[in-house]
Amino acid sequence: MTIEKVLVVDDEILMRNFIEATLARKNLEVVTAENGTKAVELLKEQTFDLVITDMKMPGLTGIDVLRKVKEASPDTIVVVITAFGSIENAVEAMKLGAFNYLLKPFTPDTIEALLEKAREHQALVVENQYLRQEVSGGSGKTAAKVIAESPIMKNVLADVHRIAKSNASVFINGESGTGKEVIAHAIHYNSLRANRPFIKVNCAAIPETLIESEFFGHEKGAFTGALNKRLGRFELADTGTLLLDEISEIPAALQAKLLRVTQEQEFERIGGTKPIKVDVRLISTSNRDVKEMIAEKVLREDLYYRLNVVPIYLPPLRERRGDVIPLSEYFLEKLCLENHKEKKTLSADAKKKLQDYPWPGNVRELANILERVVVMDYGKTVSAEHLYLDEHPTPAKGKKSAPSLRELRNKSKEYVKNEK
Ligand SMILES: Nc1ncnc2c1ncn2[C@@H]1O[C@H](COP(=O)(O)OP(=O)(O)OP(=O)(O)O)[C@@H](O)[C@H]1O
Ligand SMILES: [Mg+2]
Repeated sequence: MTIEKVLVVDDEILMRNFIEATLARKNLEVVTAENGTKAVELLKEQTFDLVITDMKMPGLTGIDVLRKVKEASPDTIVVVITAFGSIENAVEAMKLGAFNYLLKPFTPDTIEALLEKAREHQALVVENQYLRQEVSGGSGKTAAKVIAESPIMKNVLADVHRIAKSNASVFINGESGTGKEVIAHAIHYNSLRANRPFIKVNCAAIPETLIESEFFGHEKGAFTGALNKRLGRFELADTGTLLLDEISEIPAALQAKLLRVTQEQEFERIGGTKPIKVDVRLISTSNRDVKEMIAEKVLREDLYYRLNVVPIYLPPLRERRGDVIPLSEYFLEKLCLENHKEKKTLSADAKKKLQDYPWPGNVRELANILERVVVMDYGKTVSAEHLYLDEHPTPAKGKKSAPSLRELRNKSKEYVKNEK
């Protein structure tokens, strides 16, 4: 996936040429160095994904080169070439961070097999880095359960199963907290790509200046602060699914680039010149009204049509009240288990209260209310008085408009006054 540029270091010209030719046949970019000093110079100017170095060379040895590589770019994979009888050198190299060794004499097949291993290793490293970043919001490797009892949600779920097996782009629209991410997961884990990566970009959470690099990655030195090559989410999602969460937050210039990726499945890293091909299934979400976004030019219409091959609309919870109790019971059971609390049931008045409430925050609000009940642990039966629902009258359509900055400032002044 990601090994593109290789440095070959060997004092013997025949060996250099042999390795170079083998790698070039695999469409890799190869740079050669006839000694360790030359290699170290090259390492200062360029980044390599893989370095293959001979161990015994006049001047700097393979071990010296290995040390320099690990200093300059720890992610670069190093393979050392060693002769039969000096295997202890290879062992030392492995201890210092070499990925593997080639025992002389070797054939092109051996190099190719090694290349394959190195690629797998790199993919794992990359996925680990990504997973480490994501653990806080991580979703595990299987689809979360989707509760769908209302006729509307049953239809949605039937659609999910129908479209999962295709590669069509899906656009999920619905108010905040209606379960757009849950549905995106369900599509991925029911698709043929279920064992491939599911990668998410939260477009609303990434600062505008970083979002392009987040999408497409960058080459080393592409901008101030780009100390190393970095893969973007499109590359991480290759052969899998990419969830573009809240697409109305994507800046206009980037929407143009995104349009090109959706058309050609091809892009360049920032600072890069080589087009990178990917095979990615796109799922996008938004909680805003699409027509409004297009009219306000927040979203490019042409891009919207590319992303919206299959639309899915998730109605607000107040329009599918048949899901309220099944969801409540599901959350109650799950949260009791997670919090090591005894099993609880809902009383009839609690059910009625839940059923009648307008749920402006949709399923997320429901889950939060039940989490509070479980944590407070009032006993085996949950009755209406245990449910602290936000009884403020909700604005039309249940959407709460965010307070203006001025309102917030006044509030905080008041707060400070009261504290004094
Ligand atoms: N049908 C459902 N079955 C089970 N859990 C659900 C369902 N719908 C939503 N949830 C749960 O409700 C919460 C909110 O769902 P989710 O994050 O998917 O909403 P969203 O539409 O993506 O919200 P936002 O627009 O704010 O990102 C999550 O904890 C999710 O697990
Ligand atoms: Mg979401």
